[in-house]
Amino acid sequence: MIKEKEITLKEIVSHSKEYGFIFPSSEIYDGLQAVYDYGPYGIALKRNLQKLWWDSMIKINQNIVGLDSAILMNPKIWKASGHIDSFHDFMVDNKDSKKRYRVDTLIEAFAEKIIGEGNKDKGHKIIDSMNKLLEQNDLDGLKDLLNKENITCEISKTSNWTNVRAFNLMFETKLGSTEETSESIYLRPETAQGIFVNFLNVQKSAKMQIPFGIAQIGKAFRNEIVARQFIFRMREFEQMEMQFFITPGTEKDWFEHWKDTRIKWHKAIGIQEDRLAIHQHEQLAHYADNAVDIEYKFPFGFRELEGIHSRTDFDLKSHEELSKKKQKFFDTKLNKSYIPYVIETSIGCDRLFLTILSESLTKQNIDDKERTLLKITPELSPIKAAILPLIKKDGLPEMAQKIYDDFKFDFETVLDTNQSIGKRYTKQDLIGTPFCITIDHQSLEDDTITIRYRDSMEQKRIKIDETKGIINENILMKNILMKL
Ligand code: GAP
Repeated sequence: MIKEKEITLKEIVSHSKEYGFIFPSSEIYDGLQAVYDYGPYGIALKRNLQKLWWDSMIKINQNIVGLDSAILMNPKIWKASGHIDSFHDFMVDNKDSKKRYRVDTLIEAFAEKIIGEGNKDKGHKIIDSMNKLLEQNDLDGLKDLLNKENITCEISKTSNWTNVRAFNLMFETKLGSTEETSESIYLRPETAQGIFVNFLNVQKSAKMQIPFGIAQIGKAFRNEIVARQFIFRMREFEQMEMQFFITPGTEKDWFEHWKDTRIKWHKAIGIQEDRLAIHQHEQLAHYADNAVDIEYKFPFGFRELEGIHSRTDFDLKSHEELSKKKQKFFDTKLNKSYIPYVIETSIGCDRLFLTILSESLTKQNIDDKERTLLKITPELSPIKAAILPLIKKDGLPEMAQKIYDDFKFDFETVLDTNQSIGKRYTKQDLIGTPFCITIDHQSLEDDTITIRYRDSMEQKRIKIDETKGIINENILMKNILMKL
């Protein structure tokens, strides 16, 4: 009998480190909070996720093209986008424990606890009051709410709070060689602005007609006040964003289109439907007139995985105003010029990575024996096949080498001759390799091998000639793309 148990975040963190997926950054110097490095299998999985996202935007849509804009940009971009004035979180410190909180997270957790205890009306009332105060940037009001509800610090258990302060999340650095001539610039907090300021470059050079999209994958940086939950909230992370430029007035339909398309994508990569949810935003960012989060049920609960935002013409209009450069598009079908509206899809690659780990790390109890495996969709697995000669002599390693040399041009293959065959299967299960190919003495006689399927552990004897085809059938990204 196979029993599976729920996975904790702690188990994901330790599995990631032990089996070469994710390491804490700068570990030998005690690390750097909320910054991580990807190990050999981690980067392979991450690249697969990026390739799949890129292909599902650019390869299969005639009207979406790619871009790779710089991380450093003219700081006026962040003035126009509103990030200098509005991209902040409100924080508060507990004077006794010295612990720092994001004030909205603190109040929300308190309200959710009350709701969980059955006092729904009171809980929702607190969240409504908080949303109003946040919208009005009312810092004193937020502190009054903390005091009125007697919200306490989880460590000191007191409500001895500092004043609430706004904290801009952008990392600032200097451009220029001398103190006097250098100017402040920022590490980009989102990739989207690189797309907006290249809107006309792309439209004209690639001869795009509205509606069309520009997609980009790249690093973003945020000096998060509370960076927690492993790679869920990082200070340096990677975004995969697509801005879809549309005729004003069509935004409601396109918003629904992209919401549905993205949900379909998550299901196509193997995320279980009951682990996905849609959260409609009530408190909107400064640029949006509608927004939803696609949430995933992480081990710590449902949280945002991807955002779909209806950004109106806010960004292009602001850039036109500040740069004094026209951002209008001439629509030949409508015979008029206008600033397009934009629907944005924005997903954190690292958050998607955590989703895949949460979804696939599996601990089974089979007749009182524990088995751990990563049930990653074969199309996304870091390694597709492991070639395992049963023993290290009698010509088996040579035959294995020949198969490896043939397979390696088609997909990621490893050749492993160390340890017992059981231990080698386990090693591959732990990194999510979907197929193990075992070569034994019979292989030398009749050109057959044993293929072992990771999830079922089923083993089948098949011809060597058929093996590559069987593996290829199961790992092509096309399998996923065709479901979209
Ligand atoms: N351009 C819109 C934008 O940046 P966002 O909701 O702030 O919107 C989009 O971020 C996505 O980026 C989120 O849904 C999340 O997946 C990812 N993300 C944001 N902050 C992150 C962080 N600190 N660490 C990891 N991923 C993050």
